Amino acid sequence: MDTLNVQGGYPLKGELKIQGSKNTVLPVMAAAVLYKGVTMLTNVPMIRDVYCMIHILEAIGVKIVFSDHCLTMDASLVESGEIPMEDVKRMRSSIMLLGALLGRVGEAVTSYPGGCSIGLRPIDLHLKALEQMGAEITEDGIKIRAVASRLRGTHIRLDFPSVGATENILLAAVAAEGVTVIDNAAREPEIIELCLFLQKMGVPVRGAGTGRIRIEGKRQLRQTSYRITGDRIVAGTYLAAAAATGGEVRLTGIYTPYMASVLQAFRKCGCDVTWGKEDVSLRSDRQIQAVPWLKTSPYPGFPTDMQSPFMALLAYGDGVSIIEETIFEGRLKLAAQLEKMGADIQVKETRARVTGQSRLRGTLVQAEDLRAGAALAVAAVGAEGMTRIADPGYIKRGYESIDQDLRSLGGKIWW
Ligand code: UD1
Repeated sequence: MDTLNVQGGYPLKGELKIQGSKNTVLPVMAAAVLYKGVTMLTNVPMIRDVYCMIHILEAIGVKIVFSDHCLTMDASLVESGEIPMEDVKRMRSSIMLLGALLGRVGEAVTSYPGGCSIGLRPIDLHLKALEQMGAEITEDGIKIRAVASRLRGTHIRLDFPSVGATENILLAAVAAEGVTVIDNAAREPEIIELCLFLQKMGVPVRGAGTGRIRIEGKRQLRQTSYRITGDRIVAGTYLAAAAATGGEVRLTGIYTPYMASVLQAFRKCGCDVTWGKEDVSLRSDRQIQAVPWLKTSPYPGFPTDMQSPFMALLAYGDGVSIIEETIFEGRLKLAAQLEKMGADIQVKETRARVTGQSRLRGTLVQAEDLRAGAALAVAAVGAEGMTRIADPGYIKRGYESIDQDLRSLGGKIWW
């Protein structure tokens, strides 16, 4: 059986540079489809989701060279708007190509991504917005086809500040005639980074990071090179791992203003956390304080992707913590795996009541999604004995080398 193996009990100590951000690079790769020429990205994480996106882009005609974290994409010839069905199944975020493909070739064909292990994840907001921009959408039960001979800028108000829907609208708006205004837009750092990239490409975008974004379409685009920012979720995961072991680490290569709510949460847990603009240091004596109420919400709130690593950390807390998950209900499934290690977690609807334990013990557990898999590694480095995490492929979707990274900090972890 393929497992990630962790021998717990070794405090993580030292310094580590954090990989580029998965959730930033994927929409930026989609945006590159809009430019009839070459786009270059650096600090690109060498993770499964990036390879999956490369596979899709090559299938539609983009020529790609990817080596040593540098990605060169030549989208001079994009021949098809059809996203291969097996890729939609492998990577749900392929849906973010809809807007770019509509803009570039006037047609986008995909299959319905359906639910996934972290929740239902509908795409109604994406489709409704693209319709408002002039796309005609037909569904035959298997495939979704969006066609638009011409996209037009319009005023869109999202019912919920969906990250993916905001990205799709932004990309469609680049090729639309006139001005698009998105109200109740997502404010996540990944939206800010996508807008910075679009600006560099020559697109007038205003309001990134606020609830109202304004984009002017049909501008002359230009060749762009862009450095992908550090991954705030990977950084947060490694901080949680260090805290669970009573370690002391310094992480570099990140932009800490994007991590404010997470850094505050570590402080609430009793960790000694200090940061500059591009680095963060954490020291923990392993006396993790329980947190009365930790609620996930859209940015600048506490990110749902960090909820799983925090659940693992709070399993070591001194007292009872309540976690409320408001974005992806399925993420609380992690509790059952942590319980196998001796954690005491009761889940009711969208809340988890975590009664901290002084010790967890290693055993065989199952990664059921990307962040839950990484969270099990957090629990495991602090646990007694050996933990084997089955289905570690999920972790490789977003963490380039969790084994090498944690080993470089003194952890005992190997594939
Ligand atoms: C992105 C991130 C994911 C992160 C999430 C929230 C990527 C590749 N993934 O996912 O890691 O956890 O943002 O920060 O960047 N919803 C609808 N209808 C829609 C779209 C969304 O009801 O059409 C709901 C979802 O079910 C969910 C909520 O809106 O409850 C948030 O989803 P969204 O912000 O769209 O997340 P993603 O873009 O899928």
